[in-house]
Amino acid sequence: MRSSAPIGLFDSGVGGLSVWREVVKLLPHEHTAYYADSAYCPYGQKQPGEIIERSSHIMDFLIGQQQCKLIVVACNTATAAAIDYLRATYPLPFVGMEPAVKPAALHSVTGVVGVLATQGTFKGRLYHETLERFAGHIQILEQPGDGLVELVESGHAGSKEAQRLLEKYIRPMLRANIDHLVLGCTHYPFLIPAIRKITGDRITILNPAPAVAQRVKFLLSQNNLLNASGDEARHEFFSSGDLKTLRQLLQQLG
Ligand code: DGL
Repeated sequence: MRSSAPIGLFDSGVGGLSVWREVVKLLPHEHTAYYADSAYCPYGQKQPGEIIERSSHIMDFLIGQQQCKLIVVACNTATAAAIDYLRATYPLPFVGMEPAVKPAALHSVTGVVGVLATQGTFKGRLYHETLERFAGHIQILEQPGDGLVELVESGHAGSKEAQRLLEKYIRPMLRANIDHLVLGCTHYPFLIPAIRKITGDRITILNPAPAVAQRVKFLLSQNNLLNASGDEARHEFFSSGDLKTLRQLLQQLG
């Protein structure tokens, strides 16, 4: 494996860019290859078998063609459905997403924590194990964010419709006295300005992406795969669908 090879990242669409930006911030010398499976988005209500099939197809591209040295499954839903399969099938390090339930449970004062994620993530083994291990003493309010991924994907994160859905999902959690909101889907960090209009500064919003970037750095270092070539970092973006929102968000991210 070459240390100058890119880090591969993929998501059902543009959401994984919220993880990509943290990886690039922490590891400015690394090349990256990002794959948005926008033609098959959303993954949230797909069967695990279908997500495994899409993931293998994406691996043909990221590992087979781009020769990536490590893969970030920058999608909570794909992590829940496919990461065990990917780790068992391909001989390189994988980093997946895990809803940040642990820090929320550790720091909650009210003892009530909200989690916003897709239906697929709530059904996953990983999520339930995390709850059992870290959140036994806490009341967890699970809210599927139906419709939100589609809005972010079509470039409508700031729309009235997004605000309306977020009101519907978050207001009841605020009434139940949550003090932390865990974002369990990589599309949702793009909704933080809209979420803040509802919550103000009353609660802590948790996005696991910075912790995922730390894990990437740790694994690269442990496997002697940090890029030491000194070349300027190259970032390439690919999509099975339309690149419009991806371009838009990249511009926003600067
Ligand atoms: N970004 C994906 C996640 O983190 C969205 C899933 C979907 O496409 O529904 O779960």
